[in-house]
Amino acid sequence: MTLPPPSEKPRYVREMFAHTARRYDLMNRLMTLGQDQRWRRLVVEACQLPPGGHLLDVATGTADIALEALRLRPDIHVVGSDFTHEMMRIGKSKDSAGRILFVEADAMHLPFPDNSFDAACSGFLMRNVTDIAATFAEQRRVVRPGGRVVCLEITRPTTPVWRDLFHLYFFRFVPRITAFFSSHKSAYSYLPASTLAFPRPPALAEIMRSVGLREISYRTLMLGTIAIHAGEST
Ligand SMILES: C[S@@+](CC[C@H](N)C(=O)[O-])C[C@H]1O[C@@H](n2cnc3c(N)ncnc32)[C@H](O)[C@@H]1O
Repeated sequence: MTLPPPSEKPRYVREMFAHTARRYDLMNRLMTLGQDQRWRRLVVEACQLPPGGHLLDVATGTADIALEALRLRPDIHVVGSDFTHEMMRIGKSKDSAGRILFVEADAMHLPFPDNSFDAACSGFLMRNVTDIAATFAEQRRVVRPGGRVVCLEITRPTTPVWRDLFHLYFFRFVPRITAFFSSHKSAYSYLPASTLAFPRPPALAEIMRSVGLREISYRTLMLGTIAIHAGEST
């Protein structure tokens, strides 16, 4: 698949997630062999929130990171933003205590004042945006100096044999699962194609640095197929 051109990507991405929303959580659990919730816990920990702190979960989708944050840290305040209404509707239905404030917004134009959060995080967002640097810059803007910006994304392994196995899994198996769970016409090929086009961890760290984040660090998980990046706002 060729990825949609930048001018069409936001509409394409929104439609794809709108079509996938109802089955998104189940699809995630299956494709990640149940590991995705553990990664979200690591994201919350990397946010290093102070007592009573304010967290922004950008592209919250069905709110799994936001809910994990409240489970681990019931003392904090959480805003979840996303531009796909259908994904957040599922998220709202899971937030029975009504603890999350859901805001419909584009990750590249966040409707929040400067320095309004102690941390911002995103899970599986950055592959989908048209400008990764601008998206990180927005998170840096809304997070107070010294607060954390954390990113969870898929990445490609580099170890020779494992790299080939992963390729096989991602290009043969994942499209079949996605096609089964999503009614969107090309969602099945978008995931591997967007992962191939996504910067490797050192390059992503460089992008974060370029927008003024500092103390950048990252770790890879699941044999180099998942990366969590963290940086400090200035
Ligand atoms: C793969 S889902 C991830 C959802 C959730 N963060 C998680 O960990 O499961 C990606 C989400 O990013 C949202 N998204 C993609 N591009 C966006 C943008 N430019 N602005 C806001 N949300 C966006 C989609 O609507 C979708 O809900």
